[in-house]
Amino acid sequence: MSIINTGDIQKKAEQAIGACSGLARLEEIRIEYLGRQGLIAGLFAKIKELPGDERASFGSALNNLKKSLELLIEEKRGLLKKVEFDRRALDPSMPGVAVESGGIHILSKTIKEVCAIFTSMGFTVLEGPEIETEYNNFTGLNIPLEHPSRDAFDTFYLKPAIPFRAQARNQPPETSREKLLLRSHTSPVQIRAMKSLKPPLAVVVPGKVYRPDATDASHSFMFHQVEGFLVDENVRFSDLKGVLDAFVKRLFSSAGGEVRTRFRPHFFPFTEPSAEVDVSCIICKEHKKHCSVCGGKGWLEILGSGMIHPNVFRHVGYNHKKYSGFAFGMGIERIAMLKYRINDIRIFFENDLRFLKQF
Ligand code: DAH
Repeated sequence: MSIINTGDIQKKAEQAIGACSGLARLEEIRIEYLGRQGLIAGLFAKIKELPGDERASFGSALNNLKKSLELLIEEKRGLLKKVEFDRRALDPSMPGVAVESGGIHILSKTIKEVCAIFTSMGFTVLEGPEIETEYNNFTGLNIPLEHPSRDAFDTFYLKPAIPFRAQARNQPPETSREKLLLRSHTSPVQIRAMKSLKPPLAVVVPGKVYRPDATDASHSFMFHQVEGFLVDENVRFSDLKGVLDAFVKRLFSSAGGEVRTRFRPHFFPFTEPSAEVDVSCIICKEHKKHCSVCGGKGWLEILGSGMIHPNVFRHVGYNHKKYSGFAFGMGIERIAMLKYRINDIRIFFENDLRFLKQF
């Protein structure tokens, strides 16, 4: 058989590739030359028919041809793809690609709304860490060790990185026994803020809190609170009432018609006196009958509050004779559930877009 000139094949292929203007045609060329039944495969099959001394050089020439064509086709494919992309990008008749835009989560929105009402009254927004010391979460807030009031704030404790006994050998006694936990309320930020700032002070603190509750329609092991406190000279209970009444009315102003507030005596270790704040039922508008949300009472509890306990002031080094103040705390999920008539807390955390998109 006559020796086949691989240079001629190369030239022909180059011409075909150069003239090709579409990806489909390029694929035809690739199959023609490089396919399993293609020209080059056919030539490889013929090697064994050649005289022994020509096989090696022909084989290597074929290999070079194969590699060179693969490269050329790959390059051309890249070029054609780009041309096709540019043409599409410029084609105003192509259907558009819908861009999905994200949204603000309903809980973030509610936190923002709550904080905005307070900042409009002169409060500042502060945040604190979710991992807290036992002191800030309890003792500093006048919730003593072994006191039953701690049970109300069931808590996730963290395992110490260094065993307490080992700590005790190396560290001063005040810090050696310091246990860490996931804060069970946002109130510990009162301690942090008052320790680092001087009165007058008006602060709101949004954030996540954790309690080892079994999850159901109204409980979640993680939820959000907004804490607030104001400290100055001559702060009175009537100031607390005025601020919280204005807040509740603005928060529920979209409920239609003016809502009412009610302050009910209560107990919190960190405030004295303490009160729970109720809002008139925004669902049944106090018509009460068969209202499943307020249970026919006409009122919904939404806030804990009170005058800051003198022991809290002592713990942060404030003069409790000179200064007084009020504090309050609320659950954000509860407020969002009431405002937007959501009956299951779990839905906030499932990230089902069909739910999230409604807000
Ligand atoms: N920390 C309380 C809780 O988690 C809420 C609370 C009640 C905060 C009264 C306060 C307050 O600052 O004065 O249930």
